[in-house]
Amino acid sequence: MTTDMREFGGKVALITGTTGIALATARRLAAGGASIVACGIVEDANAALRAELERGGVKALVLTVDVAERDQVRDAVAAGVGCFGGLDIIVNSAAVHPYGTATTTDFETWNRAMAVNVGSIYLTAHFGIPEMIRRGGGAIVNVSSVQGFACQQDVAAYATTKGAIHTLTRSLALDYARAGVRVNSVSPGSIRTPILERAARAGAGPDVDVEAAFRRFGEAHPLGRIGEPEEVAELIAFLCSSKASFCTGADYRIDGGLTAGIGVK
Ligand SMILES: NC(=O)c1ccc[n+]([C@@H]2O[C@H](COP(=O)([O-])OP(=O)(O)OC[C@H]3O[C@@H](n4cnc5c(N)ncnc54)[C@H](O)[C@@H]3O)[C@@H](O)[C@H]2O)c1
Repeated sequence: MTTDMREFGGKVALITGTTGIALATARRLAAGGASIVACGIVEDANAALRAELERGGVKALVLTVDVAERDQVRDAVAAGVGCFGGLDIIVNSAAVHPYGTATTTDFETWNRAMAVNVGSIYLTAHFGIPEMIRRGGGAIVNVSSVQGFACQQDVAAYATTKGAIHTLTRSLALDYARAGVRVNSVSPGSIRTPILERAARAGAGPDVDVEAAFRRFGEAHPLGRIGEPEEVAELIAFLCSSKASFCTGADYRIDGGLTAGIGVK
């Protein structure tokens, strides 16, 4: 696919996470001409993305950031603005995915999931939206999940954060619409990323056949397969672009039809 470098030319995009959907989104927005500020907590993944973007001649900052930490997010936004002159796009993709019910999830794990998955979206908005307003507007895309609509067992904290993301998305959209800041979310089904690989390994041991598990997960989706991170990145890029100029306050499912049915054949 050829991407028009003018699509995001002159735009600055802050992305949380440096693997999976965040990685595909960084590549996609950079291919459209955006400068990238990527915030990840895993050093190896950060270094790999930094090297790849540098090789591609992309204007990029890849920062080690715990997106649950107020001052670290504040400093990341300031670094991006200092380096590239402003902020136009925020894609919140970072998340943790703990397993557990209300009785098996300890309070620290519960709070950490809230802080990383939801608190980070508040923090990037809190520090980022004033910068977007200075530029005359911007676009935010929050990565939620089908689990925000209908959830599996044993993911109480994770699913709760994904429902909260839908609500926070609507709230931000309403509060900043007149300032020209559009805010939407995407809700993926199963996507081939490290989080899904961990899901495949959960409880199954190190020798699990990940590809077989991915095929099994794919069978649950009417399209008969799991999705690719690039497919999600394409939807995110659309929502970040001027083509989506009348889209705000909405969620866009990208789930191969998973939530269209009631799971009975
Ligand atoms: N892959 C799927 O099947 C799927 C389905 C639905 C929703 N999602 C959502 O997609 C988003 C991206 O996940 P992914 O599938 O790309 O998996 P992933 O594990 O590759 O991405 C999660 C990213 O968040 C980063 N992260 C975690 N805690 C952080 C912290 N405190 N500070 C900074 N970064 C932190 C991780 O390092 C990682 O880069 C998540 O919000 C996830 O809930 C994924």
